[in-house]
Amino acid sequence: MGFIQDELARRGVPALPEINKENFEETRLKLVDILSEHIYGYGPSFKSEVRGEVVKMSDTAYGGGVTTEDIKITVTTPKGDFEFYVFVNRPNSDKPVPLFLLVNFAYPCGGLLHGQVLGDGNPKAPPCRFRLPDEEIVDNGCALAVIYNKDISGDNGNFSTDGLAAKFGRNKSGECSWGKIGYWAWAASRALDYLYTFDHYDKSRIAIVGHSRLGKTSLWCGAQDTRFTHVISNDSGCSGAAITRGKVGEKIEVICTRIAPHWFCEKYYEYKGEEATAKMPFDQHYLLAAMAGRKLYIGSASEDQWADPNSEYLSACAASPYFEALGQKGFVAPDRFPEAGEEFHEGNIQYHLRPGTHAMNRYDWKRYIEFLKA
Ligand code: GCU
Repeated sequence: MGFIQDELARRGVPALPEINKENFEETRLKLVDILSEHIYGYGPSFKSEVRGEVVKMSDTAYGGGVTTEDIKITVTTPKGDFEFYVFVNRPNSDKPVPLFLLVNFAYPCGGLLHGQVLGDGNPKAPPCRFRLPDEEIVDNGCALAVIYNKDISGDNGNFSTDGLAAKFGRNKSGECSWGKIGYWAWAASRALDYLYTFDHYDKSRIAIVGHSRLGKTSLWCGAQDTRFTHVISNDSGCSGAAITRGKVGEKIEVICTRIAPHWFCEKYYEYKGEEATAKMPFDQHYLLAAMAGRKLYIGSASEDQWADPNSEYLSACAASPYFEALGQKGFVAPDRFPEAGEEFHEGNIQYHLRPGTHAMNRYDWKRYIEFLKA
C-alpha cells in the first residue's frame, strides 16, 4: 500500500460502497441518503414552483458590456410563498456563458438591497465582508449569481421564526430534519430552477461555489442537485471536504457544541468524541464521491489548520475511485500530502493548496474560473 492508502487505513476511514457503471446512480443516491440521515438531515419532499421578478437591471453595467439583475425569487411551498434574492452579473453575449452560483455571506456590493432595509424591517444586509472579483469573472466570459445565506434563514439555532425555517422548522429525524446547511443548499437549487430557464447560461458549465460553512453548503447542494456540473468547495474543512477521522483542528465535538449545531441534523451529535466518530457509517469522502461523473474542485489554504488541508486532500484521494468507476480521471495527485503552492488540475477532482490563511481570495477565484471555463 502507498502512503495515502496507509493513512486512510490508519485512520480507519470506511470504504465507499461498491460501485460500477450499471448501479452507479442508485449507489450514488445511497450516499446522499446516508449523508441526509446522519449529517445534513432530510429536506422537505414537495415540489415548488419558482418565479423570478427582476426588480432592478442594467445592460450597461461596469461601463458597458455587462448585464446586472437583482431578482426577487418567489418559491411556492405548501405553507405559503417564500421570497429571497439573487443577484446576477453576466457578460452581454449571444452565446450561453458559464455560470457561478455563489452562496455568500453577504449581498454583493452594489446590489439593490445592499445596506438597505428589507420589507420585514430587519436590516439584513451586512457590509461586504468578502470582496468578490465580479469584474474579473465577467471579463473572463462567465456569469456570477449570488445568494445570501441569511436571506434564507439566519445562521443560528432559530428554527421557528427565522426566514424559511419559520415554515419548516426541523424534526428529529426523517422529512425536515435538515439543519441550516440543508436550508441554504435547498435555496441555491431553487435559485437555479429560475436561472436554468434562460438560454444565457451554458448548461454544461454551471458551478455551485462557497467558502467555509458555505463551502460545506456548496458540497451538500452539489451532491443533491446534479444540474450543477461543477462543484467548488473553498476551505470547507470539518463536516465539509475534510475526512473527519484523525483530522486536526475542528472536530465534530466542537462543531456540534461550541460552533454551530444548527448546521446539521440532530443525529450528527451522536458522533461527538473520538470513539463515537470512529463508529460513523461514513466519512466526508462519501460527500465528494457523490459528485462523480461531474467535476469537483477542492481549494485548501496552507495555514488553515482548523479546516485541515491534509484531511481535505485525503478525502479527494478517497473519493477518486468513484470517478474512475465511471471511466473518468479521478484525482491525479502524488502519493503524499501536498506542499503549499501545489495544485493538481489534471483530473475531474482538482485541488490546490494556496499559501496563506482561511479565505477565498483572487488566487482561489482565478483557479475556479479556469476550472469552469476549461
Ligand atoms: C468556523 C467553523 C468552521 C467554518 C467557519 C466559517 O471557523 O468552525 O467549521 O467553516 O467558521 O464558516 O467561516
